[in-house]
Parts: sequence; structure tokens; C-alpha cells
Amino acid sequence: MATQQTFSIIKPNAVSKNVIGPIIQKFEENSLKVAAAKLVVLSKAKCEEFYAEHKERPFFGELVSFMTSGPVLLMVLSGENAVLKNREIMGATNPAEAAEGTIRKLFGDSVGENAVHGSDSEESANREISLFFEKNEIVNS
Ligand code: CMP
Repeated sequence: MATQQTFSIIKPNAVSKNVIGPIIQKFEENSLKVAAAKLVVLSKAKCEEFYAEHKERPFFGELVSFMTSGPVLLMVLSGENAVLKNREIMGATNPAEAAEGTIRKLFGDSVGENAVHGSDSEESANREISLFFEKNEIVNS
């Protein structure tokens, strides 16, 4: 399979726990490369646009409030089968159900504060990457 890109967010609870390093190590150990990265505090408007598909969910307000509560690390990850591989490394959405050794099991606090976001398909990855990164901000190697 050709090299693929996916979008990743290290969420505010993980940034405040000072575990950016161990999380990126998990990606690197599994042959995913950081192709772009930005540490930012998301605006409410941008965050609502990013999570637009969840707008009608009862937890939408809580999700946006948490995701804008502090710095997040936005990343493009690249590698073989990157979308699926990233999802395996992250583990299940709910940390209580995530497999041992996954990022959400290790660093997630709850289903909302689950340490990381990762794209669920190549189509989502393309949309999410283009929301936050210009083409010339992404390294191709
Ligand atoms: P993420 O991959 O960022 O995509 C949508 C997020 O919504 C998801 O991770 C969870 O953090 C969050 N989420 C999903 N279900 C719930 C829930 N029941 N309560 C609060 N947050 C949720």
C-alpha cells in the first residue's frame, strides 16, 4: 500500500499531563512519521467546524468546550496504511474499552477526554488536514 496521511490531535488533557512525547513515541515506534505539527488553542468556531458531524449529539457542547479549553497539538502523520494504523495505536474511543498499551488506555481519562483524535477514513483525513494545514506546511518524505 502507498504512503497515506492521517490527521491527529493530541487533546488538552494529554497536553496538560505533559505526555506529548510518549504519545509521539507510540506513533514513531509504529512507523508513522510526523509530517506537520502545530500547537494551538482552537477557536470555538474552528472547533465547531471540525466536529460538524457531531453537531446534533448531546455531548457536542461539552466536546467543543473541552477541545477549546487549552492547547492541542495538531499533526499530520504519514506512513503505510496510516489511517487504520493510527486508529489501532489510539485504541477504542472510550478509554475504559481500549486495549492495553494503546494511547487512550494509557493516557485517556474518559470518553470525552480521551487524549487523542484520529481520522476515521481517508476522506475524513483529507478534510481534516485541509482545515488546519496548507499544502506547503506538510513535509513529504
Ligand atoms: P474524537 O475522535 O475526537 O471524535 C469525536 C469525539 O466525541 C470523540 O473522540 C470523543 O472524545 C467524543 N465523544 C464521543 N462520545 C462521547 C460521549 N458520550 N460523551 C462525551 N464525548 C464523547
